[in-house]
Amino acid sequence: MPVISQNPILTIEDAEQIKIALPDRIDWENFYTSGKRNPPFLTDMPDENLAAYFEQGRLNPGNAVDLGCGNGRNAVYLAKRGCRVDAIDLSTSAIGKGCSLAKQAEVDVNFIVGSIFDVLLGEGYYDFAYDSGLLHHLQPHRRPYYLDLVRKALKPNGVFGMTCFDTSAGVPKEDWEIYEEGGMPSGIGYSGDRLRRILQHFFEIVEFRSMKVQSEDSGLFGMDGLWAILMRPLHS
Ligand SMILES: C[S@@+](CC[C@H](N)C(=O)[O-])C[C@H]1O[C@@H](n2cnc3c(N)ncnc32)[C@H](O)[C@@H]1O
Repeated sequence: MPVISQNPILTIEDAEQIKIALPDRIDWENFYTSGKRNPPFLTDMPDENLAAYFEQGRLNPGNAVDLGCGNGRNAVYLAKRGCRVDAIDLSTSAIGKGCSLAKQAEVDVNFIVGSIFDVLLGEGYYDFAYDSGLLHHLQPHRRPYYLDLVRKALKPNGVFGMTCFDTSAGVPKEDWEIYEEGGMPSGIGYSGDRLRRILQHFFEIVEFRSMKVQSEDSGLFGMDGLWAILMRPLHS
């Protein structure tokens, strides 16, 4: 077992030092098909922060990509707000749910089954990229590659929105602990300081707050335990 540095993995150079791929904890296809799990995000409602970005005029219709789109709830919302949307997920079953949701809402979404590491995103093509709950499932050494590909896919004045587990909802393990223990938790819980440090290598942070819990009749999804972050790409 190679010795793992106790420093967080921030850059692609840091990530290249990690020669171990861990087994992934969650089989996403099984997650969606088995029906055994009923997590709060299996809803038709879009994230409250995503709706707020539009209401506040921070987002406008344009080219959008939803990364790890799940059942497509946020992708469909983006299409309803006039965006041209690509929505990517590993799970065929999740994408099937997304197609049904889009049909029901009478909007077009370009759903794609695949890994965000394999689907070729046009460079400088997107006005907006959104990740609701994907980053905290990525193995730490994959994070810089992911953030770099999102940065490159955005227009220079593009925007990146994200929700991500805080330490109350995810497992608050440091990068080195995860490799030393040889297993990915079911979701990494990030402290605000740690997540800012990671994101700031690739993005300028515009807003960093907690997701707001919603009342049942709000028509929006919001729960405790998630950060809601809005960023702009840094260009080297
Ligand atoms: C916590 S779920 C969130 C789903 C959706 N964004 C939502 O908020 O409803 C994480 C999603 O990321 C997807 N995912 C995980 N790794 C992925 C990868 N490498 N490429 C594409 N999708 C991935 C999973 O299939 C799952 O649907």
